[in-house]
Amino acid sequence: MHGVDLSVISGNLVTAKPLGVREGVDFDHSGEVRRVRAGAIEGLLEKGSLVLLPPLGFSSTGEVFDLDAAEVAHHAAVALKADKLILLGESDGLANEQGALLRQLSPDEAEPHLAAAEQGSELARHLQAACAAAREGVARTHLLCWRNHDALLGELFTRDGVGTMITQHRYEQLRPATLNDIAGLLELLEPLERRGMLVARSRERLEHEIDDYLVIERDGMVIGCAALHAFPQADIAELACVAVHTSYRGGERGERLVEAIEQRAHRLGVGAIFVLTTHTAHWFVERGFASASIDDLPLLKRETYNHARKSKVLIKTLA
Ligand SMILES: CC(C)(COP(=O)(O)OP(=O)(O)OC[C@H]1O[C@@H](n2cnc3c(N)ncnc32)[C@H](O)[C@@H]1OP(=O)(O)O)[C@@H](O)C(=O)NCCC(=O)NCCS
Repeated sequence: MHGVDLSVISGNLVTAKPLGVREGVDFDHSGEVRRVRAGAIEGLLEKGSLVLLPPLGFSSTGEVFDLDAAEVAHHAAVALKADKLILLGESDGLANEQGALLRQLSPDEAEPHLAAAEQGSELARHLQAACAAAREGVARTHLLCWRNHDALLGELFTRDGVGTMITQHRYEQLRPATLNDIAGLLELLEPLERRGMLVARSRERLEHEIDDYLVIERDGMVIGCAALHAFPQADIAELACVAVHTSYRGGERGERLVEAIEQRAHRLGVGAIFVLTTHTAHWFVERGFASASIDDLPLLKRETYNHARKSKVLIKTLA
């Protein structure tokens, strides 16, 4: 840090009010946040200063109150419209009954953990702040452990992060694709096309057929896709281009994609879907597809069937 000229600035940036007397107990100089002076903080940040908010608040009459740090963090994050709030505590985050770390929860899912936490404990205070921040618009709040010296780097510089994230928005979602997904789709499909697992699709073709696609997006990255192509006058549609990124396989994402495509096919009013595959026939058979022949395909598909590829034809009748 030699020669680094960092200004860390603090001040009367949080206004507080006294907790007062509750159930016969006078809380004296303990207070709660009344207002965070976002404009003043932003002014300091714009000048390149680091702003430090201690767990202290000031009243307009000059009194100083002792505040809960997590509450200050929650109110500051909301007032500054922060994208992220990071709370460092004793534990790595939240765990399930088997002790496995829970990576992502919505505030509603975190609520039972809050109820189970010892009242007034650090975990309870952090969880309360995290849930409140998520409900009031902070996109992501992370519970990390201060014992882990790599926790911040791991959180900020890896896609999956470490610790538990509380978020109102699911950061992984299955949804219809849009033109904005083309670059992500190309990135996902290209390695599979190179290995001959999928037929090569050009950017133009993807753009043209984009409405046929569903994608799974995780934290801004397309990690899975599947398409449903309809054929005019045919009672059967094609399930195509089912793919899940290698780092995310085995989490039933492939299965969810096929289910979503089946629902789409249902809405389209077709009675069956078919798939052509070279490498993955067993996977589809385990999901209710049965071997069929080229003659079972719609005429248009029969005409364009690539005999050199020798893809297997599988059909699933929809209930
Ligand atoms: C097929 C694919 C979409 C599955 O994605 P996924 O998210 O891992 O799927 P799921 O989690 O629902 O299923 C995983 C299971 O399928 C099994 N599986 C994966 N590929 C398989 C294959 N080629 N044949 C048989 N089973 C297979 C896995 O071993 C796992 O089973 P297990 O849990 O018993 O170990 C993915 O492996 C993929 O992208 N493959 C390459 C592209 C491809 O071949 N697409 C089909 C052509 S349209």
